[in-house]
Amino acid sequence: MPGLWRFPEGTSPGLTKKLFIRTYGCQMNVYDSGRMTDVLAPLGYEAIETPEGADMVVINTCHIREKASEKVFSELGRLRLLKDARRAEGGTMILAVAGCVAQAEGAFILERAPFVDIVLGPQTYHRLPEMVARAERAAAENNGAGTNGPGVGILDTDFPADTKFDHLPAPTAEGSTAFLSVQEGCDKFCTFCVVPYTRGAEYSRPAAQVIDEARQLVALGVREMTLLGQNVNAYHGAAPDGGAEWTLGKLCRELAAIEGLERIRYTTSHPRDLDDDLIDAHRDLPQMMPFLHLPVQSGSDRILRAMNRGHTAAEYEAKVARLRAANPDIALSSDFIVGFPGETDADFAETLDLVRRVGFIQAYSFKYSPRPGTPAATLETQVPEDVKSQRLAALQALLLEQQAAFNDACVGREMDVLLDRPGRHDGQMLGRSPYMQPVHVEAAEALYGQVVRLRIKSATASSLAGVLADVSAAAE
Ligand code: 5AD
Ligand code: SF4
Repeated sequence: MPGLWRFPEGTSPGLTKKLFIRTYGCQMNVYDSGRMTDVLAPLGYEAIETPEGADMVVINTCHIREKASEKVFSELGRLRLLKDARRAEGGTMILAVAGCVAQAEGAFILERAPFVDIVLGPQTYHRLPEMVARAERAAAENNGAGTNGPGVGILDTDFPADTKFDHLPAPTAEGSTAFLSVQEGCDKFCTFCVVPYTRGAEYSRPAAQVIDEARQLVALGVREMTLLGQNVNAYHGAAPDGGAEWTLGKLCRELAAIEGLERIRYTTSHPRDLDDDLIDAHRDLPQMMPFLHLPVQSGSDRILRAMNRGHTAAEYEAKVARLRAANPDIALSSDFIVGFPGETDADFAETLDLVRRVGFIQAYSFKYSPRPGTPAATLETQVPEDVKSQRLAALQALLLEQQAAFNDACVGREMDVLLDRPGRHDGQMLGRSPYMQPVHVEAAEALYGQVVRLRIKSATASSLAGVLADVSAAAE
């Protein structure tokens, strides 16, 4: 099958051009960067680890919080020097800005950084080969233009009717874990969030397309798959037989039937879309990992309403209770925003109370950051920065305590761990527990890429260490 096999780095006769992609932001961006690499491979581009020496550099940007565009411009400033140096040597470096900052500020990027060649949004990277071919031609014609010569100025931030997924080549995979994007965009319009504007309307890939990509990944050796979407559990993909649309629960059921796929995860979910199908999948399928990222953002109903989240704290907790009834092993992670406009000390105290009641084994927490164009950014009740900082510190202390307590409670337990990376020294391997905790173990290299049973011997706030369970049993 074309695209399934790759020459080891540096050995391919045809692959002569070097591609560097820097990825910011969420796992969707990580997936997109992988697919951009796949799309550019037939043009002879091969991924490298640094921008130095690259024939093409892509920065895949994130717009979700604070000063995103300033960060992009300062990175572009550094890359411009590399581009100039390459021109001075008579070469070219194509510079592209992709992702959500590109989508939101495309024309402005070209205006302020005219040395950029290509600006493309998250929905058009299947057209990259065409854009790159244009840029390569223009760069060749332009090469005498001097060290500060202009970029080619291609801008493509469409939301095309035929999606990129209809045009992407077969996926590639390195190692035993992979992301698989099943859903994109969002129609929920939380009042703090730019995603509905940068990623566009909610879209679910047809189930047959997802299953097909999953089969290809498993054939490449993938054992654990993380299904991705901005609202992944809003998934409602067209059914292969033209019948009722599939839910995420149904999709997971069908994926679990693929021989060799041992673990299924999904992220990010919305509490409102956590339905019975998905809860039942957690009850019935051993492949479903018992760890769920289910952002609640706040514990105050007043703030949840102002955020337009569409649920109360009690409704969130009721869903969690149903999940835990379906599978008592389930543990949760969440996102929190502190200092949303109008948030009082009492509102914040309700967030802390919710955290104490629910218990999270891991979490991301952020100070509210006003995003241009979103409704909350213009509210007059903005919370002072020092108050946000104090609340963030208090919340993070509590969350960290819960994370450390969970890790400690794992000591003495047996867990299935997928060994997916070499450790720091010879004979050591690093893996992921069902709960995504990094686990260190002394193990033979032959076990790389496999799920092994470990007995956990020690824990820190951020990782575990274990021994092979049958070895430890033999020793006892
Ligand atoms: N300010 C702070 N945090 C935000 N997030 C999204 N938008 C903002 C914002 N304007 C956080 C939310 C979301 C996560 C991906 O980023 O917690 O769940
Ligand atoms: Fe943003 Fe809310 Fe949509 Fe999540 S659900 S992507 S936070 S608008």
